[in-house]
Amino acid sequence: MRKAGMFHVVVLLSVLPSLRAFYHERRIPHAVFDQTMGDLARNIRAFQKNRGYLGLDLYPAGARWFRAHHFAGMLFELGRLHFNFQPFGYDLHAYRHTANREVVLLAGDQMCFDDAGRPAQADDKEAWTAAFHPDARTIHGHRLRPETGRAARSLVNLPAGLWQPILGKGDPILGVHIHADGPMAHDQCGESFRRAMDFFPRHFPEYEIRAFTCNSWLMDHQFAKYLSPKSNIVRFLSEYYLFPFKAPSKMPGSSTWRSAARWRSWTWTPNRRRHPCSERSCSM
Ligand SMILES: CC(C)(COP(=O)(O)OP(=O)(O)OC[C@H]1O[C@@H](n2cnc3c(N)ncnc32)[C@H](O)[C@@H]1OP(=O)(O)O)[C@@H](O)C(=O)NCCC(=O)NCCS
Repeated sequence: MRKAGMFHVVVLLSVLPSLRAFYHERRIPHAVFDQTMGDLARNIRAFQKNRGYLGLDLYPAGARWFRAHHFAGMLFELGRLHFNFQPFGYDLHAYRHTANREVVLLAGDQMCFDDAGRPAQADDKEAWTAAFHPDARTIHGHRLRPETGRAARSLVNLPAGLWQPILGKGDPILGVHIHADGPMAHDQCGESFRRAMDFFPRHFPEYEIRAFTCNSWLMDHQFAKYLSPKSNIVRFLSEYYLFPFKAPSKMPGSSTWRSAARWRSWTWTPNRRRHPCSERSCSM
């Protein structure tokens, strides 16, 4: 076993020639390639620290993650943060007010919540069911509170003429990830978002990015109660609109739901929505 620790790494490295060609074709700077691939070394070091010899796990954020992301041209490290292409996978509906730019996120039709507005199972006797009905004049729905992601039981009626849809299920977004190498200083994270907003339109102009989202244990509004408002985690959290997310059942804490989205004004008009890498295949 010990000798096989680097097996997955060798397989991953076999993709490098086609990956380099992809970076070249997209005119992505070498520095981004080096930094993104540097995450492999970071993970090998972490493996070595835990096990005492060189290697890379297959799961959870190991070889499989690298193959589907870094080595598939799907993820880029831009400063402190990683960003990856993905569709918005939730039955939620975001609207922005055309005048004051306020954003509201409405629950999907038939989502179930408990009295406190937390997601509930449909067979829970105490659960109530959300409705979502947009028509030409009005958008009827249940608002999720940005600071907690909890649903409000009262129905809101938004005048359709004043609220523009900005995000829905299947829309293209960027996932945000925070690697474990040092603190996530607020300024560094801000700089990463700025870089992403320049990088993706420049190198993937056909990909219309609607939002950044982050699915993480960090996205728990209770941190604001226990950590200093100046902590990196609380400052990061405060920039997001929280919404419920059901973690895969294998994950610890899978009964909790937490996720978040962050909007920016994207000023370019893409001509296609197809994923830029959808026709690329990884030769692993
Ligand atoms: C995410 C991460 C970089 C945040 O670290 P950070 O920038 O130092 O966070 P903060 O400055 O906001 O920390 C606030 C407090 O929480 C503590 N803290 C932060 N991360 C912690 C962790 N993973 N475990 C235990 N305590 C943690 C800090 O020590 C600090 O405590 P203090 O107030 O007593 O000094 C760090 O947790 C980490 O490296 N985690 C592993 C990677 C990860 O989880 N990424 C998210 C991907 S899903």
